[in-house]
Formats: sequence, C-alpha cells, structure tokens
Amino acid sequence: MTFEGLDGSGKSTQVDLLAGWLRGQGRTVLATREPGGTPVGEAVRELVLHGDELAPWTEAALFAAARAEHVERAIRPALERGEDVISDRYLDSSVAYQGIARGLGEERVLDLNLAVTRGLLPDRTFFVLVDPAEARSRGGEYRDRIERETDAFMQRADEAFRALASHNPERIVTLAGDRSPDQIAEEVREHVRTLL
Ligand code: ADP
Ligand code: TYD
Repeated sequence: MTFEGLDGSGKSTQVDLLAGWLRGQGRTVLATREPGGTPVGEAVRELVLHGDELAPWTEAALFAAARAEHVERAIRPALERGEDVISDRYLDSSVAYQGIARGLGEERVLDLNLAVTRGLLPDRTFFVLVDPAEARSRGGEYRDRIERETDAFMQRADEAFRALASHNPERIVTLAGDRSPDQIAEEVREHVRTLL
C-alpha cells in the first residue's frame, strides 16, 4: 500500500497509524518512505532534496534509481516474506511531480518507473487530498528543494494527483484530508480490511 499527496497532507501520520493498527493484529509490517528506505535511497534523498539545482530528467532518473533499489532490496524481499508493505510515496509521486508538474510527460515517467520496478504496483494507493495552501501551512520551518517550489508548481502537483486518482479508480482511493487523523485512519482501515 502506498500513501500519496502533497507535503503536509498528513501521509506520514497515516502510514504510522496504519502500521500500528496492522501490527496490533499481529501482522509484520515494513513501513518505509521514498526517496529513502535503503542507503542508496537516503543518498539520493540528500542529492535531490538538499543539493543543487538539477535538470528535470536528472531529478526523475535519481528518484527512479532510488526506487529501483528500494523495490529490489526492501519491498520485494518483504513481500516475499509475506509482510505488509506501506510506503510513504511511490511511483505516483514521480508521475505527478516530474511527469506532470515538471512537464516531462506522464507516460514517459510512468514507463521509466514501471521499467525500474519491474512493474510492481501497489494493491492500494491512498491519496490524501488537502488544499495546497493548507498543506503548505502545515509544513514545518525547513523546506526541501521541492517544497520550496512555487505555489503554481504545488497546484499542478495537486491537480496531477487528482487526475491520477480519477484515471486509476480501482487502485487509488482519495481521502478527504481535512478531517482528524483518526477519522482518516478509520476510512483507511475500512479499505485495508477488504485486502487482508
Ligand atoms: P506529510 O507526511 O504528508 O508531509 P505529516 O503526516 O508529516 O504529512 O503531517 C504534516 C503536519 O500536519 C504534522 O505537523 C502533522 O501533525 C499534521 N497533521 C497530520 N495529519 C493531520 C490532519 N488530519 N489534520 C491536521 N493536521 C494534520
Ligand atoms: P517527502 O519524503 O514526502 O518529504 P518530507 O519527508 O520532507 O515530508 O518527499 C520529499 C519531496 O520529494 C516532496 O516534495 C516530493 C518529492 N518527490 C518527487 O518529486 N518525486 C518522487 O518520486 C518522490 C518520491 C518525491
């Protein structure tokens, strides 16, 4: 399962709540995040989020490289052990931010990411929908390179996630993010119960 949405939408909060609920039922859970989840992924996180400006395809390729490592070294092995995997962001983030908001092309970025993950798609993706201004206001003091982008960029990313949700209604569930974390988590649990 993956969680997607703008920074500040409440994704990480929901990953923690869902992981805690599943563990409470005796399940083994890998809760992870992108970019990250492996040493190479964390190094890419440093480069992409805290380094100098990058050409758009460099950025897309680095996120894809981190994702390839994440899938091969962490996600597939956990799935093969029968564990539940929850990732805070996955390939929809690349399609939304690099493919649509940066304009590299939805199909091209999706194809790159399907190639590097050998086609691994989540069983369910939760898109936490919040107004971009609200998401921004929830953010902390420090902003990474992408979080410092303009409001127009965040608006495009928000529209991109909404479009992805409407094109993939069987996989992507849109959650109204303007409720309490517990209310959102309850709706997530209702969906997840049908997958267990
Ligand atoms: P993300 O991982 O999407 O960046 P976080 O889960 O880190 O978001 O949440 C960003 C901030 O908003 C945190 O301070 C968190 O406590 C707060 N927050 C999380 N969920 C909600 C919610 N449903 N309503 C209001 N604030 C929230
Ligand atoms: P995130 O880990 O959600 O940030 P934080 O931990 O600070 O809340 O994501 C970092 C940023 O990277 C975020 O602005 C979205 C961006 N991003 C992409 O542009 N493409 C991607 O493929 C991924 C995974 C993230």
